[in-house]
Amino acid sequence: MAGNSADKIQGGLLGWVDARFPLSQLWNDHLARYYTPRNFNFWYYFGSLALLVLVIQIVTGIFLTMFYKPDAELAFASVEYIMRDVEWGWLIRYMHSTGASFFFIVVYLHMFRALLYGSYKKPRELIWIFGVLIYVVLMAEAFMGYLLPWGQMSFWGAQVIVNLFATIPYIGPDLVTWIRGDFLISDATLNRFFALHVIALPLVLLLLVVSHIIALHEVGSNNPDGVEIKQNKDANGVPLDGIPFHPYYTVKDLVGVGVFFIAFFAVVFFAPEMGGYFLEHANFESADALATPEHIAPVWYFTSFYTVLRAVPDPFIGVLAMGAAVVILFFVPWLDRNPVKSVRYRSMAHRVNLIVFAITFIVLGYLGVQPVSSLYGELGLRFSTMYFLFFWLLWFHSRERSVVFSLLSFAVLVGLYSFYDMLRIESTDPALVMSLWLLPTLYLLATMVVPALVHDLRRDRPVPERVTA
Ligand code: HEM
Repeated sequence: MAGNSADKIQGGLLGWVDARFPLSQLWNDHLARYYTPRNFNFWYYFGSLALLVLVIQIVTGIFLTMFYKPDAELAFASVEYIMRDVEWGWLIRYMHSTGASFFFIVVYLHMFRALLYGSYKKPRELIWIFGVLIYVVLMAEAFMGYLLPWGQMSFWGAQVIVNLFATIPYIGPDLVTWIRGDFLISDATLNRFFALHVIALPLVLLLLVVSHIIALHEVGSNNPDGVEIKQNKDANGVPLDGIPFHPYYTVKDLVGVGVFFIAFFAVVFFAPEMGGYFLEHANFESADALATPEHIAPVWYFTSFYTVLRAVPDPFIGVLAMGAAVVILFFVPWLDRNPVKSVRYRSMAHRVNLIVFAITFIVLGYLGVQPVSSLYGELGLRFSTMYFLFFWLLWFHSRERSVVFSLLSFAVLVGLYSFYDMLRIESTDPALVMSLWLLPTLYLLATMVVPALVHDLRRDRPVPERVTA
């Protein structure tokens, strides 16, 4: 059995350490005798890759901090100095800026995996909750980091986002002054964002990641079949469908690391700005409080939520909608109560729902970088509606629903947004409103009404007892 080697090493340095610190025990519990399902696939690369990016960000961040100056007078020039004069400074800086975008790519794929295989369901609700907390802290970390180069987009992006808090009734304006530490984004803001970015938030992030993994190792990993491997054990208590994490998955994850590095360094060396998506063009000019850039857009990984914000005309309701778009993620384990975990055995209706959700999120992201126009505004509203409908449908497909309930729900939902359309039709382009009304309506027809009429489309399939190849 793997790990016997660890049993044999009683004496020597390891024995000395083991008598004082549970090194072998930790190695065995978390690697050599940590049994993981034998059917992990492509989607299971992204947890370890997220860990890798976290390490890249911390290590490159430490070196950047050695040369960066958190002072509104010096910050921009210090970044230029890193890029031009510090030895290998350009590499460190590009690795850090590219790492930020890759962090979100990896985390989004990692989250989507959880949705595909129902990894948030009992007993893994806390793994998911820690995950969403990580995601929220990661957004705060990226936002604060973006102010540090003190470019035009750093300044104006922060200005727009911090000002969102001003829409909160009563406390809003005071809250904004408190966050900035001044009456405008200034040196005081830069200093506190620096403190939060380099020490406070990374500490919280590390704590959450450790908790995430402790929770995972307590209950064990899910897998593409959604079968609990701990339910089938041999006489020694080893799961029949389990293999030790080390060496099997350490080797598999190393392959992932290799492929990841090829993609990562291709960007770092050949396209670090990524067409203005990873490093925005306006940020190559120093911050100027008197010159607003023509087009202020957040970095790509925030733009889906930015579209939700812009979809609502009332600023405070927009902020609430944007907040709700994130907060609703916490409730996913309790919205989707269907006992079948993996998409492999879920109904066609659920599959379509997941695919439409992925597309919706990408389209929302695309719309968030587009300039304001009536078409983009209307599309933003429709796709934001579809974003929220996904969660409702997740709950809806938790169990078999009757035809009457399905049709009634459809009528109520369509009625609700049609009513809102009627209220605003005079102030917008009626042809646009009516044609794009079809988007959420078709979505609901495909995922609720048609499956209500064709039983096969809403039927989950039997889950095997053991994992499949
Ligand atoms: C810094 C960010 C993160 C790191 C380093 C991280 C790390 C990991 C690792 C190493 C695993 C085990 C390997 C794997 O299943 O891929 C894992 C599993 C998991 N993570 Fe994360 N994670 C992060 C963010 C998130 C986020 C944002 C979510 C969701 C909102 C999430 C949800 C999950 C779930 C549900 C599992 C269990 C998957 C399963 O067993 O099928 N994680 N994570």
